[in-house]
Amino acid sequence: MTDLSQLQSELAARIAAAGDMTALEQVRVEALGKSGSISALLGGLGKMSPEERREQGPKINGLRDAVATAIAQKKAALEASELDARLASERVDLSLPARPERKGRVHPTLQTLDEMIAIFAEMGFSLAEGPDIEDDFHNFTALNFPPKHPAREMHDTFWLAPDEAGERKVLRTHTSPVQIRVMQGSNEKLPGWIANGQAPPIRVIVPGRVYRSDSDATHTPMFHQLEGLVIDRAIHMGHLKWTLDTFTRRFFETDSVVTRFRPHHFPFTEPSAEMDVQCDRSGGSVKIGQGSDWLEILGGGMVHPKVLENCGVDPDEWQGFAFGLGVDRLGMLKYGMPDLRDMFAADLRWLEHYGFTAFQAPNPATGLS
Ligand code: DAH
Repeated sequence: MTDLSQLQSELAARIAAAGDMTALEQVRVEALGKSGSISALLGGLGKMSPEERREQGPKINGLRDAVATAIAQKKAALEASELDARLASERVDLSLPARPERKGRVHPTLQTLDEMIAIFAEMGFSLAEGPDIEDDFHNFTALNFPPKHPAREMHDTFWLAPDEAGERKVLRTHTSPVQIRVMQGSNEKLPGWIANGQAPPIRVIVPGRVYRSDSDATHTPMFHQLEGLVIDRAIHMGHLKWTLDTFTRRFFETDSVVTRFRPHHFPFTEPSAEMDVQCDRSGGSVKIGQGSDWLEILGGGMVHPKVLENCGVDPDEWQGFAFGLGVDRLGMLKYGMPDLRDMFAADLRWLEHYGFTAFQAPNPATGLS
């Protein structure tokens, strides 16, 4: 009797002291397991006399039940405190502000280029492209730059080191060499470029990067041009003027833009002209569609007969016009950026400010996004 109550209080103390499931399981095995202390007592009942068994049986069974109950209660308590600990450690604070999600911005040059391409596409122009690394023939010779002529230097050309054959390639100084690639079919040798040779009539625009060794607020060593080329029968300067006037009005989204053509010289056009837009430069920024200043935005002219001949196009049958626009400069004018160099500085704060959201609703006036 004393032994039983001593065993019970001993087990009760061990159950109470069990700090986790493993310790509790240890107590259970030692008391109620196959060779546990209570199991041994139960096993001993069979060897007792009937009177003894009648007396001891209920006590030992009572002890077993009491210990089993105490273990079950302790198990439930341990499980509850484990859950409490997990709930406390895995707590989610729903009142915290959400993490900011950074959205990318469309670079103003790309936005400007998209707008320009959309306007020319509506006029029926298709896209052509050519390589950034050009040979002297496409960049100069075929465009009627005389050999050794200072005009080649005028472009502040980046020359590459001569290859094994002694040929010096250039970083193209303008997109005009793609005129040659389109007319001559020389792009067939350059898989991947959208400008396989075409027979006239031709109506293409050529967007792309160009390079000149120059840097100030309105010049950067790399910038973007958009070239235009139209070859057809009976094409004249009037077509060129209409095309560029229409483009300018649509690009600046106002009918009040005034343009003027000034005679100029380019080796690859005759006659050649530069086009200016009227603007107001007072007050530090440039406003288009008002004022009494002029700003040059492009060069153009009638394709020189020698250029047509160089491409195997008969100048007695075909004529055409060409033009070259500065993409970044037009973007600066339209969106009011003061320094061209910022366009290429890769400063995310600048891009946050001047960049565009990717999916803008179309502008109802132009249909452009
Ligand atoms: N390629 C000239 C430049 O970069 C711009 C230009 C002028 C392009 C007249 C033309 C053109 O197609 O006809 O300065």
